[in-house]
Parts: sequence; structure tokens; C-alpha cells
Amino acid sequence: MKFIIKNYGCQMNVNTAAKINQQLLAAGHVVAESDEQADAIIFNTCCVRNTAEQKILSHIALAKQLKQKNPQLKIAVIGCLSAKRKIHGVDILLGTEDAMNVVEKLGETLRPLPPEPTSTAYIDITYGCENYCSYCIVPFVRGKLRIRPIEEIRAEFNQVKDTAKDIYLLGQNVNAYPNFPQLLAKLAQQSGDFKLHFLSSHPKDFDIETIKVMAKYPKIAHDIHLPMQCGCDKILKLMNRKYTVADYKNIIRQLRELIPDIHITTDIICGFPGETDEDFEETVKTVEEIKFSAAYIFPYSNRTGTVADKMENQVPFRTRKARATKLVEIMRKMS
Ligand code: SAH
Ligand code: SF4
Ligand code: F3S
Repeated sequence: MKFIIKNYGCQMNVNTAAKINQQLLAAGHVVAESDEQADAIIFNTCCVRNTAEQKILSHIALAKQLKQKNPQLKIAVIGCLSAKRKIHGVDILLGTEDAMNVVEKLGETLRPLPPEPTSTAYIDITYGCENYCSYCIVPFVRGKLRIRPIEEIRAEFNQVKDTAKDIYLLGQNVNAYPNFPQLLAKLAQQSGDFKLHFLSSHPKDFDIETIKVMAKYPKIAHDIHLPMQCGCDKILKLMNRKYTVADYKNIIRQLRELIPDIHITTDIICGFPGETDEDFEETVKTVEEIKFSAAYIFPYSNRTGTVADKMENQVPFRTRKARATKLVEIMRKMS
């Protein structure tokens, strides 16, 4: 069988797609050179923002047109978008927890194989999220927080540590892993010529011990992704982020104190419900002060079922976009 995997969304999806790819190859299937030549197209989806959702739906629509010409074509939709909504006219529809079953459903029963040697390896340490940031759909499509058993993490780590250059520990909020600094310290002491990274950190659970561990062990990379979301206390509260701008800046100060060459990246949402021009200017000021290495900036996107979607004072779409554009421009100048 010739297959194509179309992957969208976060690093957790990148990881799932890589595993599916590897298992299909191991079963003797090959990657198709084009959609037209494929026997199976697998969409590993995301729905965190409306733009992602609409893009994926249009790509699925194109695949359905191909299927009219070639009824043998199998279309599989897995991951967050299919956990959120029904998608008609496709052959396989799986959510997030059973996404890996797509391999079996495509006709092969397989035993799991050790990962191929790759220069970058991803290891899930937690699944799901129950922080319920008021704008976010992830808790609804990924389910409650589950901690991956340490033996599984260790086994996967041991398989990659001697071949991978970069190893990423993944979770929607890695700091929710019980005693995360200890896990980090243990893995950083293993043999192998790797750099250890982790994604994403949440300021509310971020433990100063983590910084000490990062500073102590040379195998831990000096980079951190610490989504701030906005730089204004009023909005942070409405977002249910459970930290203040002062808390956030305090973490940044300690990071820079202990790790002078730290590379700090963040995520910012512009135009969250209730955000006034003044609130946005506070975010601009905070961003200018902190001087991030990079910031991923998103206009706020309404997600059905979330608390923020039902809030009053929704900001007009053009204002959300204008603010995001302004912040992108400020970041570009600063960098
Ligand atoms: N678990 C991670 C991020 C998950 S989603 C964390 O908490 O940091 C990745 C990013 O998408 C978020 O950090 C946020 O900035 C953005 N995002 C999530 N929901 C959004 C929405 N409804 N509208 C706009 N951006 C959103
Ligand atoms: Fe979404 Fe917040 Fe969980 Fe991140 S921590 S996945 S933003 S609910
Ligand atoms: Fe998207 Fe699901 Fe990741 S919604 S950002 S693929 S957790």
C-alpha cells in the first residue's frame, strides 16, 4: 500500500505521526509520491484554532474528490479534530487516544517496533490536560491529564539516547508531571551524546528546581518554551491561567540569573474577550521588556464549548488580527 500522512498541530501530533509512519513502513508499505498515487491518506488533525480546522477540512474535501475518481482510496482522519466533530465521507475516524489504531485499521496487525534511529526523538511524558484555560479546546479533545508510567518513559528513552541528537519530553504542561525536576535530572545523567529539551512549560506549575536542574546538567538544552499568553493581569485572570505578570517575570529573572544564555520562547493570544486597547498595550510593554527569543502570536479564535467563547465583550475579528499583526511587527524589529 502507498500511503501519505498529513500532519497538523503540535509536537505531540508530530510524535504520533512519526510512530504511525514507522509502523506502516515496517509492515512493508511505502510512502506515496503524490496524493493521486496514494492508496491511503491519513490526516492527523488539530483543532486548536479555527484557521487550523478550516484548512484541514478543505484538505479533506480535496481527498474526497480524489476518492470519487479512485474508490479504492482510503481516507483516515485521526486526532483532535475527529475527537471534536463528525467528519462524513471518510473511511476511518479515530480520536486522540486510539489514534495509533489507524495502522491496524488500514489492514495490518503489528507488533510495536523499536524506533528508527533519528536525530530528533520525541517522548510523551503526559497525555491530556485539565487546566481548562478558558480559551482552549485541548482538554475537551485530549481528555484528562494522564501521567505516563516511568518504566515506559525510561524504555523509550533508552531506545533513543545513543542515536538521537535531540530528545524532547512532551506534554501539554510538562510541569504537571509529578516531580518533573527529578525526572529531568535522572534522564540528563544517562549516557549518550544527546541534548534534552522539554515542551511546553506552564508558568503556574513551573518549579524553580527545574531551573537549577537545567543549570546543573550540561545535557539539558538552554531553551525553554514558556507560553505567557498575555502580559496583562486582568486578561490572565479571565484566561484562567493562574499566574500574574509579576509571577511570570519572576520566572524569567531566575532563568536568566542561573542560565545567562537561556533561549526563551513564548505564545501570545491577541484580542481575548474583554481585552481593551490599554490591556493590549500592557502586553506590548511586557513583551518589549522581556525580549523573547521568539514569540508565536495568535489572534484569539473562538472554540465552541470553552468558557471564553461565551464571554461578553468579544473583540471584533479585525481588532484581534490588527493587534496580532502589530505584535508580530514589534517582535520582528526587536529580533
Ligand atoms: N499546552 C500548551 C499549548 C497548547 S496550544 C500550553 O499551555 O502552553 C498552543 C498555543 O495555541 C497556546 O499556547 C495558545 O497560545 C494558542 N491557543 C490555544 N487556544 C487558542 C485559541 N482559542 N485562540 C488562539 N490561540 C489559541
Ligand atoms: Fe490548553 Fe491551557 Fe492545557 Fe495548554 S495548559 S493545553 S493552553 S488548557
Ligand atoms: Fe492541536 Fe490537538 Fe495539539 S488541538 S495543538 S494537535 S493537542
